[in-house]
Amino acid sequence: MFSAAVITVSDRCHRGERMDEGGPLVTKMLMNAGFDVTLTLIVPDEQEQIEAALKKIADDGAVSLIVTTGGTGFAPCDVTPEATLAVCEKLTPGIPEAMRYASLKITSRAMLSRAQAGIRRDTLIINLPGSPKAAKENLEAVLPALEHGLTMLQGEPADCAKLSN
Ligand code: MTE
Repeated sequence: MFSAAVITVSDRCHRGERMDEGGPLVTKMLMNAGFDVTLTLIVPDEQEQIEAALKKIADDGAVSLIVTTGGTGFAPCDVTPEATLAVCEKLTPGIPEAMRYASLKITSRAMLSRAQAGIRRDTLIINLPGSPKAAKENLEAVLPALEHGLTMLQGEPADCAKLSN
């Protein structure tokens, strides 16, 4: 079983002005997919604070996966992708490509998500958009491949020839 952390990025949720729906939904989806979600937190749309949270969680080495939700759009305050790029040592572009490919079949607005994904140490970081609907649709697109990627990331033998979904 892989462990995961879920970070909600939202000024309004952080200030307590709006209830966080995206974070709990993402947490539930990950748990249903077999992840042990050991940490959830809400951070404001501040690049420094997002970077600090990503670095601390990844460098602690306690989780294999960090999923963020929110802050991937075009608003001036949307800086989650920039924070993610700043802390990742390797990018995993196939993940946001797959999310946007799947999401474009649902809405042309999928192209407005600037979500990134990448690796810091042995932790995979994935950005999702902020609305619960968008977060769900994006995560659904990549969940089936994550276990294989995380197994490889841990340096364990993973049989790429064994076909799955
Ligand atoms: N992707 C899917 N699958 N479904 C959606 O409804 N909404 C889009 C996009 N991606 C959407 C989606 C919209 S309207 C925006 S603005 C961007 O995600 C960025 O969202 P964010 O700023 O909440 O991160």
